[in-house]
Amino acid sequence: GNYDDPLRPQVHFSPPRGFMNDPNGMFVDGNGTYHLYYQYNPTANVAGNQHWGHATSDDLYTWTNQPIAIFPGGPTEGVFSGSAVVDVNNTSGFFPNQTDGVVAIYTINVPENQTQHIAYSYDNGFSFIKYEKNPVISPGGTNPTQFRDPKVIYYAPTKSWIMVVAYPIDFQVGIFSSPNLIDWTPESNFTHHGLTGLQYECPNLAEMPVEGGSGQINESLYVLLISVNPGAPLGGSITEYFVGQFNGTYFETLDSTTRLTDFAKDHYAGQFFYGIPGSEDQITINWASNWQYTNVVPTAGDVLGDGFRSVMTVPRGHYLKDLPRFGMSLISYPRDIMSIVESELAMNHSLGNGTVFLDYSNVQSGALYFEANITGLTGPESLDGTLNFTFSSSVSGESISGGTFLSSGDVWLDRGHTDGFSNPYFTDKFSATGLYNEAVGAWKVSGIVDRSVIELFLNGGEKSATSVFFPTQPLNIMMLKVSGLNATATASVGVWALKAAWL
Ligand code: FRU
Repeated sequence: GNYDDPLRPQVHFSPPRGFMNDPNGMFVDGNGTYHLYYQYNPTANVAGNQHWGHATSDDLYTWTNQPIAIFPGGPTEGVFSGSAVVDVNNTSGFFPNQTDGVVAIYTINVPENQTQHIAYSYDNGFSFIKYEKNPVISPGGTNPTQFRDPKVIYYAPTKSWIMVVAYPIDFQVGIFSSPNLIDWTPESNFTHHGLTGLQYECPNLAEMPVEGGSGQINESLYVLLISVNPGAPLGGSITEYFVGQFNGTYFETLDSTTRLTDFAKDHYAGQFFYGIPGSEDQITINWASNWQYTNVVPTAGDVLGDGFRSVMTVPRGHYLKDLPRFGMSLISYPRDIMSIVESELAMNHSLGNGTVFLDYSNVQSGALYFEANITGLTGPESLDGTLNFTFSSSVSGESISGGTFLSSGDVWLDRGHTDGFSNPYFTDKFSATGLYNEAVGAWKVSGIVDRSVIELFLNGGEKSATSVFFPTQPLNIMMLKVSGLNATATASVGVWALKAAWL
């Protein structure tokens, strides 16, 4: 693929050519190398003919494309979404001579049914041997064609492998346990929680730390992600999550609230990396697209050329925090983003009411990271301010923009002024509300703009938004404007050029 195409992001993963959807099988190996597999159609730019594509990275931004890792067994078979684990103790018996054996657990889709299969790898996940006695779990639920997306973790207290797997049209997540990744016992079902949409897909369970009021870590809890499609509140697909306790058998939520991972439309099927202890921040990568329009967005060419469809989010770090208005929430921040900074383009610690304007035409990646911190907000009169930003093309005038109203803690994002794609479901504007916390008196916006995708993070990731956009000309002008602040408040703004990780 041509990674210098104007629509190719430079710090986000995209497949060499063909169509990509869900991230799969993500794990970190004993050498610290991150493995990303993904739902991949190598022969067309639309969904179908599912293989597991594969890429590796040492920093989660600079990816090396690897050969396809898992192929379908025949023309009517699809290798659907799933996960991977490292079987250090050889519980499976596949690895008598090594401690770094990898087992992939995935769904095989055929017209008649969906079943759960495993495959094992002697070489750190580069090639897999399918288990001779697949499937390891036969069709389940009310419809044999609707049972998919196994995600496996290791649960140390009972020395068990735990799988969460979707019964999509039953709105259930099945929880299974196994001593060896081969024999699976149903433990319980998490059923009809939150937004059901028309299907539950890609459940994910992970333990992660909870940050207390002091910023100290005092406990850990579990997060259950469920991706819902179609029927998301903004249309199509989105991911919801639940926070709670897990005891090896049941997952129980702390409260009955449904929370979404993102307030725009392009954030789906995210998966936690396997191999990160529950006492540390967890990491996801998510599919930055939406089933409503993913098959028809612009491509750079046909599949035999450089055409591709879909990109992943940047790696997101995650922990839990009890927020005043939202309760126990999943925090999402761009993991180690400063590690891929190439140069500082602007830095102003006392912008006050003012504007940062810059032409970034000469940034090879076309990718920027920016942060704006407003501090010293005291009393209602200091909250009249606004912060707005625009990324535009000096050639076509196309732009994406966003902003915040400090008084309400409202945030908006608008991708409507780009001309490369129009579709009734490709809606323009997204917003979130209620983010300002008077007790803190500060407000923070950060974001990554990368050729055809923007990710926004508010207050260090209390809310986030992921949005793809398709300009006909590269965006090259940034403007960030703070206005209406009173004298006690100040704004600190930084803008950095990001490395072209693909070039
Ligand atoms: C989610 C999904 C999964 C399925 C895969 C097929 O986007 O529909 O449920 O395993 O995509 O590609």
